[in-house]
Amino acid sequence: MRRTNSRFSAILACAALLACSEPSHGDADIAPAVLLDLDPSPDALLVELVASPAQVEILEGKPAQVWAFRDGADPESTGSVPGPLLEARVGDEVTVRFRNELPEETTIHWHGLRVPNAADGTPAAQTPVPPGGDFEYAFTVEDEGLFWYHPHMRGDVQIERGLYAPLVVHGDVEPDVAADRILVLDDVKIEADGRLSERIDPLDLMVGRQGNVQLVNGRRLPQVATASGARERWRLVNVANGRYFNLELPGHTFLVIGWDGGPLTEPYETETLLLAPGERYDVLVEIAGASGDTVALRNIYYDRGHELADSGPVDLMLLSVDGVSRSFDALPTSWGEVEPLQIDASTVRRQFVLAEDDSGVEPIFMINDEQFPDVTPLEVQAGDVEIWEVENGVEMDHPFHLHGMSFQVLDATGTVPARLGWKDTVNIPRDTTVRFAVRYEGVGRWMFHCHILEHAERGMMGELVVSGGR
Ligand code: C2O
Ligand code: CU
Ligand code: CU
Repeated sequence: MRRTNSRFSAILACAALLACSEPSHGDADIAPAVLLDLDPSPDALLVELVASPAQVEILEGKPAQVWAFRDGADPESTGSVPGPLLEARVGDEVTVRFRNELPEETTIHWHGLRVPNAADGTPAAQTPVPPGGDFEYAFTVEDEGLFWYHPHMRGDVQIERGLYAPLVVHGDVEPDVAADRILVLDDVKIEADGRLSERIDPLDLMVGRQGNVQLVNGRRLPQVATASGARERWRLVNVANGRYFNLELPGHTFLVIGWDGGPLTEPYETETLLLAPGERYDVLVEIAGASGDTVALRNIYYDRGHELADSGPVDLMLLSVDGVSRSFDALPTSWGEVEPLQIDASTVRRQFVLAEDDSGVEPIFMINDEQFPDVTPLEVQAGDVEIWEVENGVEMDHPFHLHGMSFQVLDATGTVPARLGWKDTVNIPRDTTVRFAVRYEGVGRWMFHCHILEHAERGMMGELVVSGGR
């Protein structure tokens, strides 16, 4: 590749090849801004959220026109990518006054939260919010964990343009840590002049749009300060349209303490952490470097199929180790409480087969041979526990997401949970069947779909209708 703009070549090289060690931002505070709470009551939250065109700089000094959320209650707030953090505690009643200043209709979906159907933000559950219109979302947060919010219309376009933000729900007990970081992982395709690229190539439609720059909290290779021996908590979410993040922090392990829907009953340790689009992981990291070291969090190759080439590790975030940390309280001896869902040989099993058809001009995607929106809704009863068997016969992975309720992923025998924890998005590796147990909860019309947004928007989406209990 030949380009005269050396900065862009350097970025492309960083993105496509190996680690680049020059951070784009200094030792900045990368934490997202928090939405202002207008309700004085301690158990209620009232926030104002606006979606509008905005300008951000992904490459320094080169503005990009994006679509972004901002805090409508804060006159200083400008649209940011990611949008402002909604921060709550378990049991809080949340009201979101939303205003759409985009040139097209939209909605907001609260990914992973068990909300009433009317607040789920899909066109199955509400009338889309027209340009200039508003809508009020109301729900009570029931589970602790990291969630995220995003539009549920033309997701491949609206989310890619910058409309996504984290939402954290705190529980009563939290481990003693030096830093509690929310890390939102994304990638973006940008042109040499810093603008969002309008080019969509056939590979984007096939595997989900993958950008040339990888971002943590909207920044390219941010640098954060830490100390030797520090215990940090990282709450990670992958909001990319199609990119998988396979994280590694050389010389360290991740202690996984929670998943999408809250804490695990038993943490486990891992050297690499794979996040498919839509998934969240809650981990503890103990900084092993000595004062003066720099440690890089990186994204390493994961074979997600379709013969995507290994472009080598990409540095995502730098940790500069400065000084020695204080010591920490012992880790809690008990974590989450998760009752295993009761299943046995008589539990109803539902089959879902993921498929793609590449024979046309553009690929199309299906579940059980149906392409959304021409689908037969699955009708079930609230309170029932069933097992979903999701079979991926396609030669690439698909992250499968269910709205409105979380599930327990079963082990290879399909009879007991692999680990006790709640998921709402699970990667289905190619040529594999993944089974999970779910108890149907909220009454209403819920979506389930692949979270590779190009796949969801081109048919890999279905509808679940939950009726009142027997
Ligand atoms: Cu992240 Cu249908 O959702
Ligand atoms: Cu969702
Ligand atoms: Cu998919």
